Amino acid sequence: MKPSYYVTTPIYYVNDVPHIGHAYTTLAADVLARYKRLKGFDVFFLTGTDEHGQKVEKAANAAGETPLELADRVMKRFQSLWDKLEISYSDFIRTSQERHKKGVSEFFKRVQDKGDIYLGEYEDWYCTPCETFWTETQLIDFKCPDCNRPTEKLKEESYFFRMSKYQEALLAHIEANPDFIQPKSRRNEIISFVKEGLRDLSVSRTTFQWGIPVPENDKHIVYVWFDALTNYITALGYPDEEGNFSKYWPVDVHLIGKDILRFHTVYWPTFLLAAGLPLPKKVFAHGWWTVEGQKMSKSLQNVVEPNMLVDKYGVDAVRYFLLREVPFGLDGDFSHSALIHRINSDLANDLGNLLSRSTAMLNKYFGGVLPEPGAPTELDQALREKAEGMVTQVDSYLDELAFSRALQSIWEVISAGNKYIDETAPWTLAKDPAQKERLGTVMYHMLEAQRISFLLLSAFMPKTAEKGLCSLGVVGEPDQSSFTWGGLKAGTTISKAEALFPRIDEKAE
Ligand code: MSP
Repeated sequence: MKPSYYVTTPIYYVNDVPHIGHAYTTLAADVLARYKRLKGFDVFFLTGTDEHGQKVEKAANAAGETPLELADRVMKRFQSLWDKLEISYSDFIRTSQERHKKGVSEFFKRVQDKGDIYLGEYEDWYCTPCETFWTETQLIDFKCPDCNRPTEKLKEESYFFRMSKYQEALLAHIEANPDFIQPKSRRNEIISFVKEGLRDLSVSRTTFQWGIPVPENDKHIVYVWFDALTNYITALGYPDEEGNFSKYWPVDVHLIGKDILRFHTVYWPTFLLAAGLPLPKKVFAHGWWTVEGQKMSKSLQNVVEPNMLVDKYGVDAVRYFLLREVPFGLDGDFSHSALIHRINSDLANDLGNLLSRSTAMLNKYFGGVLPEPGAPTELDQALREKAEGMVTQVDSYLDELAFSRALQSIWEVISAGNKYIDETAPWTLAKDPAQKERLGTVMYHMLEAQRISFLLLSAFMPKTAEKGLCSLGVVGEPDQSSFTWGGLKAGTTISKAEALFPRIDEKAE
């Protein structure tokens, strides 16, 4: 039986249209899902939309439609963007779906039956955009400490979750599992937060309608974060604990942005502890993108629209750029010139050139038919070892979610391939008929190194990798032996490759 692997993205709010920040989390999850499938795992990759809550209710009112009409409209924009970005999700959950609502009610009920949810009264400061309550001391000038927007004082009857009861258990879990919260800086941040003390958490609201009613008291609506976080198990069929739930839970990794760390590493695990369910294996918080040095915002009109980027530069260039430019976990800045630079230098020059020059040479010197390699020299051996090392490195970097370093490892082989050609100078060998076997060995090494590179690249740039592998005459689905040197067979016909990436004229842009 294949080992299982479960990866999730946050579910996106439907009161906003998708931008590169959303695309980023989803792309990262897609690369992991594709890579794990390539490695023989049975992968479940979940994404979806977070449709309930006051924010969506208000946005719908303002647009003169029902919250569900708004959600139907916006969720399609997410789905069509994911199609365009070649996101290979297994399931798309919407919190307005019956399967989800049923699972949330049951989850709420189980925690309540355990005595960990009680009815009380709430008085605190609420930030509607963040859907978060704050105590007065946490506010800065009575504004939300996260987003700096005005908060309002709310007093209402509310159900509370006994989060305080799980403080020690959570801390013990974080300490016993160094990989649970990553990167490390985020883990430390959460440890200090938990050590300061956990308060019981309000988990219901009476101020709006659009949500899931509390079981047996429909005056109350389940708090949006309680509702939203539960998507990770309702999509697996919870409360049915057979089937997908038993196969995929606990999740291997929840990918999130740094802004929603506390919800995923304090709220969610304590809910799960109360419900007696295993905790996620890993929560990884990535950084935020700014645009040309500024925060992305509607009011600054600088929101980078991924559809436009894909139309202009192509899907794989965008996929490559977002994961290569900034180490996952750190903040990064988006600029068109940085993107164009990556396309021209990494994709057109390094990758595209290597494939086109090497397939052209094979066609010129061997009529496009791959010869049997002869005895390798040190140079050949070094290239082979580099390619073999890349397979191991990419695996361990992706295990750490170091996407950028994984790509760097692949590019080391691409550069080594280009250098290898310069050093072996096939054009000189070709002039001497006595060097025919040597020339064949060189052809074999330069092309086989690319085969393995494209195989690994297929997780990042599916279309480009397909084109590359197709040019190299690779057919059929890869299996575990595909990662081993020697996959290209002598006698294979290899056509002259078209340019993978045209250069972009930055000035004209
Ligand atoms: N609905 C909640 C998540 C619930 S998960 C149970 C939510 N939605 S969101 O649409 O506002 O944000 C989703 C993700 O997009 C978050 O991980 C957030 O970090 C990410 N990003 C939003 N803007 C971003 C940038 N500018 N840069 C990088 N990621 C950003 O939060």
